[in-house]
Amino acid sequence: MIELSTILLSNKHRAPVYARAMRAVVVYESLWGNTAAVGAAIAAGLGEGARVLSTAQATAAEIADADLIVAGGPVFAFRLSAESTREGIRQQPGPGAPPPDLSHPALRTWLDALPAGTAWFAAFDTQIRGPFGQGAPTIAKALAAKGYRQAAEPQGFVVEGKYGPLLPGELERAQRWGRQLGRVVAQGTGGNG
Ligand SMILES: Cc1cc2nc3c(=O)[nH]c(=O)nc-3n(C[C@H](O)[C@H](O)[C@H](O)COP(=O)(O)O)c2cc1C
Repeated sequence: MIELSTILLSNKHRAPVYARAMRAVVVYESLWGNTAAVGAAIAAGLGEGARVLSTAQATAAEIADADLIVAGGPVFAFRLSAESTREGIRQQPGPGAPPPDLSHPALRTWLDALPAGTAWFAAFDTQIRGPFGQGAPTIAKALAAKGYRQAAEPQGFVVEGKYGPLLPGELERAQRWGRQLGRVVAQGTGGNG
């Protein structure tokens, strides 16, 4: 039976549009706040109703009804953050390091526990500009392997130094990307850019 709330309105002249507000969840891992800030900006672009949740808050129940999951994490040691790199950071924070927030699990751990699904997804990371590794493609691969459908190419957002802050303009770019994702998913078309 078709659930009323999920009926799509369409005719032959228009792309299908959701009859109700799209449910989007932005899930992040963030030790120093940069990825969380990008996540909040993406949610602002997605618009009303988009929720921003840490990996601890984004329980299976919280994301069960999502049309779109946007997942992001930081690049450490040339790859997506992992429990091992976080443990290294916990044991030996660099000299002058601001205290890291290790209260929520690594995004990799969250992805491992994520049930299979068919919602749309988009992946992002935060990183230093240059050939210092990426995390977003790893996130995208994990979500695609669980059946989720990619709404846009993975995106990297750039910080100025090891602990941030984000480069000027990155939060605005994140918000624009969120707006674009919202359009892609509302039209139900998917996309690659
Ligand atoms: C210990 C450490 C290692 C890092 N390694 C990399 C790296 O290999 N490549 C990179 O692009 N950025 C690296 N960075 C920069 C982080 O990816 C960047 O600061 C990120 O935005 C942190 O995200 P968060 O504030 O959400 O925790 C590193 C930062 C730290 C503190």
